[in-house]
Amino acid sequence: MIRIGIDYYPEQWDRALWEEDAVRMRALGAHVIRLGEFAWSRMEPKDGVFDFTWLDDAIEIISRQGMQVILGTPTNCAPLWLYQEHQDTIQWGRDGRPTDLGIRGHRCMVSPTFRQYAGRIVEEMSRRYAGRPEVFAWQLDNELENNHCTCPACRSAFRDWLREKYGTLDSLNRAWGNMVWSGEVSDWEQIQPLLAPECLPRWHNPACLLDYERFGADCTADYVRFQSGIIRRYDSQAVITTNACIPANMPDFHKEFAELDVAAYDDYPPVRLPEDAEELYSNAFVLDFVRGFKQKNFWILEQFAGHMGCWPPISPTPEPEMLSGYALQAVAHGADLLSFFRWRTACTGAEMFCHGILDHSNVPNRRLRELEELFRRLAQLPGLGDTTLRSPAAILYSADQEFALKNQTQSDGFAYWTQLRLFHEACVGLGVNVDVIREDAPLDNYQVVLVPTHLVTDPDLASRLEDFARRGGTVVITNRSGVQDKNGNCILGQELPTVFRDLCGCHVTEYDPIGPVKQTVNLTKGGTYQITSWCDLLELDTAQAWARYQGRFYSGVPAVAKNRFGEGTAYYVGTVGEKAMYRTLLIEAFRERGVPLLETLPQGVEVTTRSGEGGTYQFFFNNTVHGQNFQLQGERVHLRPLEMKIRTEKEVWV
Ligand code: GAL
Repeated sequence: MIRIGIDYYPEQWDRALWEEDAVRMRALGAHVIRLGEFAWSRMEPKDGVFDFTWLDDAIEIISRQGMQVILGTPTNCAPLWLYQEHQDTIQWGRDGRPTDLGIRGHRCMVSPTFRQYAGRIVEEMSRRYAGRPEVFAWQLDNELENNHCTCPACRSAFRDWLREKYGTLDSLNRAWGNMVWSGEVSDWEQIQPLLAPECLPRWHNPACLLDYERFGADCTADYVRFQSGIIRRYDSQAVITTNACIPANMPDFHKEFAELDVAAYDDYPPVRLPEDAEELYSNAFVLDFVRGFKQKNFWILEQFAGHMGCWPPISPTPEPEMLSGYALQAVAHGADLLSFFRWRTACTGAEMFCHGILDHSNVPNRRLRELEELFRRLAQLPGLGDTTLRSPAAILYSADQEFALKNQTQSDGFAYWTQLRLFHEACVGLGVNVDVIREDAPLDNYQVVLVPTHLVTDPDLASRLEDFARRGGTVVITNRSGVQDKNGNCILGQELPTVFRDLCGCHVTEYDPIGPVKQTVNLTKGGTYQITSWCDLLELDTAQAWARYQGRFYSGVPAVAKNRFGEGTAYYVGTVGEKAMYRTLLIEAFRERGVPLLETLPQGVEVTTRSGEGGTYQFFFNNTVHGQNFQLQGERVHLRPLEMKIRTEKEVWV
């Protein structure tokens, strides 16, 4: 079964409402209530003085209704007394100053003093609640980002991390190429975290920036390990997760979730349709990305339930079917639990206009009725929870590329996420399940592996991809791959794509970063597509031209190459095309590997399949605000705006 949850903040409401709220949430169909994650000042009003009586009462009221709780550790919001007593627990910004207090998330996750206090509150909670039947799972902190704190503790932790990695300054200087601009470090104390945002990141040494991000990722992962370790000491069976978001400074999610039991995400899809839908945005990509954190089904701990509006102005109200459509979109991509943010819209505090299921009026509304209907529908599909996505295709993701390409934009408008999404969107638009996996994950179960921009190169990956292709797989790899070594320095003495050259059967003689300019390519088999951003001028070794540039001084030069490699095939895409180009390329690649396709789906209709012991369910989601029609095995299918239709293996719509 798909579990339904609701995010609830008892500390924000008068006690007189708790009982009634619990009864109403249960009646709506909730199984679990998520609570606690911001309530430190209520749990520990004074240093060392704990009060869990209110939380005990809330949990009891919830469990009397037959529901369990997901308990949040409250460490995202340290109480003001802690900051006042211990200034060294405050996070410092990239400007090298302590962050202004009074909002949230201002704790330094590395500070030993903060660890001591955070550890104590997590321990107190664990002692009291771990292993109790009322507790379904634990959520650690809230929406963790890569650690970019520049406080003294983080500075010295960064130096320790580098000492551990490089041993000597000599080897660090060599790895970072510090002879450039007299950057040679002669004392560890000279190494600073990255201050002064106005000169960041452009002028900084990219090798240092890359290590700084990796250090930040290790800090975040260590913080997660630190908290989960405490809970597990009290209950080795505890189910522990944390709620990810996709922030600007992204952590390495694979590391962050390594010790956790299940991946979880806060799902706030775009609401400004149709504008958003015209963009390359599909929320489906992020959901598949999250499933890849642990390569298994995941949870949504905050599912969008009303118009957004915390700090920015209030967004348009969700269209009819938007709440249920997006919730089912998450299920279609592997969510087994959906916890809706939040029960009632806050009457106080910064988020009073960030709408929950209920408005301030507290009376049933259109959104509540829509969710009622959704929960009824999900309850009729109990087998769904025993299914997963099996994918013939995988997109390789690596945090190193995310870090490096963010710090060194290769061309105006060229972005790693765009590269990932272009392939992803083509897959869901063809009804092909696709996993987004870490670069060192096994490839054996896939037929087609997509490798968008592998700038920071692991030569091991090149040989794994060669093996995969040799045994009959198809690899698609794009421009800016094979450019740098593991330290983030350019590879000397080999033509691009360096370690991937044999696999691709071509090399780059010259490149033209054209930024936002639009040019065209002609496909060898006919057809013309717009391209932008980047043009690799290819020379073919053993490959054939799949597309050639039209115009400029390189008219007729290959832009995309296709190479037979062993039993398999490799495509090298030397440019960034319009969406339709990827669709055409993937149709060819999938057909050659015998992957079944749905080629009649209109743009904006996304299809995935979950299957397993619980049956087979094919999800058809209309991610647009127009009605859509298409043919499916002779049947005419109509989807209302934002409607999700589900079809079982018996070809019955449910
Ligand atoms: C999330 C956060 C929630 C709430 C929500 C509102 O990022 O975890 O606590 O702030 O956004 O949009």
